[in-house]
Amino acid sequence: MPKITWLGHACFLIEDEIRIIIDPWIRGNPQCPIGLEEVPKLEHILVTHDHGDHLGDAIDLAKRDDAKIIAIYDLAEYVRGQGVKNAIGANIGGWMDVDGIKYKLTPALHSCKHGVPVGFLIRLRDGKVIYHAGDTGFTNEFEVIGRLNRIDVAMLPIGGHFTMDIREAVIATQVLNPRVVVPMHYGTFPQIKANPEEFKKALRWIKPEVEVRVLKPGESFTI
Ligand code: NI
Ligand code: MN
Repeated sequence: MPKITWLGHACFLIEDEIRIIIDPWIRGNPQCPIGLEEVPKLEHILVTHDHGDHLGDAIDLAKRDDAKIIAIYDLAEYVRGQGVKNAIGANIGGWMDVDGIKYKLTPALHSCKHGVPVGFLIRLRDGKVIYHAGDTGFTNEFEVIGRLNRIDVAMLPIGGHFTMDIREAVIATQVLNPRVVVPMHYGTFPQIKANPEEFKKALRWIKPEVEVRVLKPGESFTI
């Protein structure tokens, strides 16, 4: 069964036959409980956008493991320029296949230097669908994403200031309609202090069928 581990902030490790990491900010991430050397050998590295708390250690990990970086076209070109051999540039649209895993880039309402910020839909080999929203404000795109995909696990930012806050993430969960939602991108900096239990409590009223998983950094669950 695929195992998902939260490494703090927006970083998640998905361990299946293929190991995938999303937004690998390990060094300098005050929430990350492990060092770079403790990150297992990776095959795919997904980067939602080029801000330091997301691009993080992606380039060094890609070089260490000869892993593929999957990102918006312009960011993939940038990391290629930094010496990453396997950079797969894509764009917002339909599914693509990388080693039997399906990926879809989704719009995110945010900023960045290279290309545009995105979220990722990930369809694992067993058909389970994971959605990592990236850094984003609330967008009506969530409704379309929810209609087009049966999402098993959604990772949504709740910290405010740079992204959605709890209220917006609650409405996002309502329209995305995932089986499980995991709050992220909170508590790392003073500006994004948020209590995930409030998120959980609000959803109990509004969308009780969605399971809210509040993880501690380093904590895992299987899907
Ligand atoms: Ni950002
Ligand atoms: Mn961020």
